Amino acid sequence: MPFHKKAILLLGIVCIVAVAAFLILGRMGQESVQPLASAHAGVKDYQRARWDPLHFKPAIDSASDEQCLACHLEILENSVRPESKAGVKAANSLAWYQTLDTYEGEQGTFHWRHLKSAYSSQVMQMQCVTCHQGSDPRDRAVNPPDVNNTAHVLRKNTNPDICLMCHGKHANEIMGMEQSWPEIRDAMQNDCLICHSTIRTNRHQVNFLKPEAIEKLAAEKGGDVCYGCHGGRQWYRIGFPYPRHPWEGMAPEVPEWAKDRPTQSEARFLSGISSNVSGSKP
Ligand code: HEC
Ligand code: HEC
Ligand code: HEC
Ligand code: HEC
Ligand code: HEC
Repeated sequence: MPFHKKAILLLGIVCIVAVAAFLILGRMGQESVQPLASAHAGVKDYQRARWDPLHFKPAIDSASDEQCLACHLEILENSVRPESKAGVKAANSLAWYQTLDTYEGEQGTFHWRHLKSAYSSQVMQMQCVTCHQGSDPRDRAVNPPDVNNTAHVLRKNTNPDICLMCHGKHANEIMGMEQSWPEIRDAMQNDCLICHSTIRTNRHQVNFLKPEAIEKLAAEKGGDVCYGCHGGRQWYRIGFPYPRHPWEGMAPEVPEWAKDRPTQSEARFLSGISSNVSGSKP
């Protein structure tokens, strides 16, 4: 066979192999995203799902849990390892916050603890978008770096300020208590309502909490219910600068520490609330 014919034949074979490989790989790729695509009609592949408009403003503001879970059901179905790779059994280790009276059951995943655990579903009703305000794969870091840009949260899927609301320090100083709550708790009969049945009574009127249930449970079970979100699971050294809603019987002068405080909860936490004036007086 003359040389140029050999070359054409070879080229032909290469083309056929390439086309076949392309088809097979394409099909494999499709199969691997099939469950995802069928769960969410209209989304065809991983990249499109990753860049789904639901991950971005403004769509994320009104996204329902069902819409997110159509693709992310794994976050509720995953469970923690019974044993770490180093051989430490979860059942044998007890974190300090697991000793709170309200803690029940075995170690669960982070999402399960906040969305599905018996206690969390009693006192709160968080949605995906309470914590997740977007997931932009391109936008993980500000470039060039800018320390003044506090709206941007470096490499985090959620803004830690949200966590701070329930995992901050117990602000005993501004409550007129010199000692920390664990030191003074017994003298106060482990009861926050000694003071808080008349102070800052207009509280918890936000769409991710269940204000009536919180008060009811605290009246039954005592201070651990309140302390659980206000110092008992403290991941931070600081406290959250809570909005200071006016309450009945409040003194007209504003204390120094409260000068910069808002008097209303963040607007996005108010949507979907039927009344924000009743307060949650016990
Ligand atoms: C059409 C399917 C789809 C929908 C709907 C969807 N996501 Fe995603 N999401 C993805 C895919 C795919 C990725 C990329 C995952 C990866 O690379 O591991 C992703 C990534 C994420 C990440 C980042 C994960 C990581 O490991 O960095 C978060 C957080 C997230 N989504 C939250 C949400 C929330 C909240 C909603 C609802 C508002 C939502 N998603 C709706 C498919 C979807
Ligand atoms: C209490 C706040 C909170 C709520 C509520 C919440 N998430 Fe998350 N989510 C987080 C945090 C924190 C991470 C880890 C972020 C990181 O690693 O930067 C995370 C991670 C994720 C990831 C990445 C994969 C993983 O498992 O780490 C996905 C996907 C996700 N969340 C989806 C959801 C969906 C869907 C919902 C609603 C059903 C939801 N989240 C509700 C705080 C929350
Ligand atoms: C609205 C209040 C609230 C917010 C906001 C909140 N948490 Fe929690 N968190 C709780 C409560 C209540 C529990 C205990 C739930 C239980 O005992 O079942 C808890 C438990 C935890 C635990 C222990 C989990 C376990 O399995 O033992 C961790 C870790 C945690 N939160 C981290 C975070 C982080 C990080 C964020 C922000 C992304 C966050 N939380 C936002 C109320 C909140
Ligand atoms: C001795 C009375 C007293 C007791 C007991 C008490 N508090 Fe307070 N608390 C106060 C006072 C006073 C303030 C500030 C009121 C104001 O805004 O002027 C306050 C403010 C707060 C604030 C708002 C902090 C801020 O930065 O805006 C929270 C949250 C709070 N208390 C939770 C609790 C919890 C939870 C307990 C029980 C573990 C508790 N308190 C026990 C008196 C008390
Ligand atoms: C599930 C978590 C959780 C529990 C339980 C809880 N809180 Fe709160 N508390 C919060 C969050 C979150 C806020 C801020 C809400 C907002 O943005 O208005 C808050 C706000 C407050 C404030 C500020 C009120 C204001 O002026 O807006 C006080 C005071 C307070 N809580 C006291 C208590 C007391 C007393 C109890 C027990 C009866 C209690 N908390 C139980 C999460 C909790």
